[in-house]
Amino acid sequence: MSKTRVLTGITTSGTPHLGNYAGAIRPAIAASQQPNVESFYFLADYHALVKIQDPARVQRSTLEIAAAWLACGLNPHSVWFYRQSDIPEIPELTWMLTCVAGKGLLNRAHAYKAAVDANSESGEDPDAGITAGLYMYPVLMAADILAFKSNKVPVGRDQIQHIEMARDFAARFNHIYGEHLVLPEAAIEESVATLPGLDGRKMSKSYDNTIPLFAPREQLKKLIAGIVTDSRAPGEPKQVEGSALFQLYQAFASAEQTASFRQAYADGIAWGDAKQALFERIDAEISPMREKYETLIAQPVEIEATLREGAEKARKIATPLVRDLRRAMGLRDLREAPREAVIEKTKSTPPQFKQYRESDGKFFFKLLDGDGRLVLQSSGFD
Ligand code: TRP
Repeated sequence: MSKTRVLTGITTSGTPHLGNYAGAIRPAIAASQQPNVESFYFLADYHALVKIQDPARVQRSTLEIAAAWLACGLNPHSVWFYRQSDIPEIPELTWMLTCVAGKGLLNRAHAYKAAVDANSESGEDPDAGITAGLYMYPVLMAADILAFKSNKVPVGRDQIQHIEMARDFAARFNHIYGEHLVLPEAAIEESVATLPGLDGRKMSKSYDNTIPLFAPREQLKKLIAGIVTDSRAPGEPKQVEGSALFQLYQAFASAEQTASFRQAYADGIAWGDAKQALFERIDAEISPMREKYETLIAQPVEIEATLREGAEKARKIATPLVRDLRRAMGLRDLREAPREAVIEKTKSTPPQFKQYRESDGKFFFKLLDGDGRLVLQSSGFD
């Protein structure tokens, strides 16, 4: 049986926080240990350039994120773990896809549209301050995915549109140049935890409410002490619904631990004690990894070597693919005889599936081949 390729990209534009850990790192590493999957994880540092123009921050974030994933147990020998900018095939494929991507489709990308709408609202030129990098972001992301013939891309809801676009570009490419690219699917992780941040809203760098994954113990304790609660006094029963503290606890606790914490709420645990319990629970899970993380961060040589090895392994897949694509598109050795057959093939239209209504009022479906010949015809439906 052929294995399913699952690909995950991590933009290197920040410091990993507990929300990243529970929502992405922990489930992804668990998934990588399943049989019949080939897991690809890469540091999307080209994507980071769209958001960050501070070189030191890009470098630091790349180091921190690589160290975090390794410290959390990612085994670089059993997966593909690499840095996007070490794979020259990715920008090359980006240009190839750019030349088949519909500009109109890119105009409708959420992130770009949101930036345009914000400009329009404030009376600015629609494209004020918007780089072509933001505009091309979905094409670069499609190249990340397609360069490795990925089958599944686990993403949050905000990224589904990008996967749809990658499918669209791949289908257009295949239609013009032949079946070279694999159409990826978004894998939406419904059950994965989204953690609340310090202020109770979703933990996110953009809300400035995060708890760094590897904050030193004392800082972790301080941050947890600052989580919002209501003003119920010790002894008063507390509600778990809507309690950020409770949700955080749950994300790091077993079912039994969670049940007894729920009971402690009902019994009126003091907020100070609840925070102490949360601190201990999180620290118990994080502290062995924190030690590894600190060792790794202090030895960038090792991480650099791991990433370079990962790139070499990854390019074993991307290099032959892009070589084939170059030939398919006509970027060829001039000594080769031209292959007109391919050009001929691109002129035929794809098969079509049609839905229509006959004069008797019934609905029908039919499938036509590329030359318009009837292949399948349904019976009538009321
Ligand atoms: N855009 C993704 C994010 O912001 C990161 C990313 C870049 C990615 N390339 C990718 C994710 C390819 C999946 C596949 O989260």
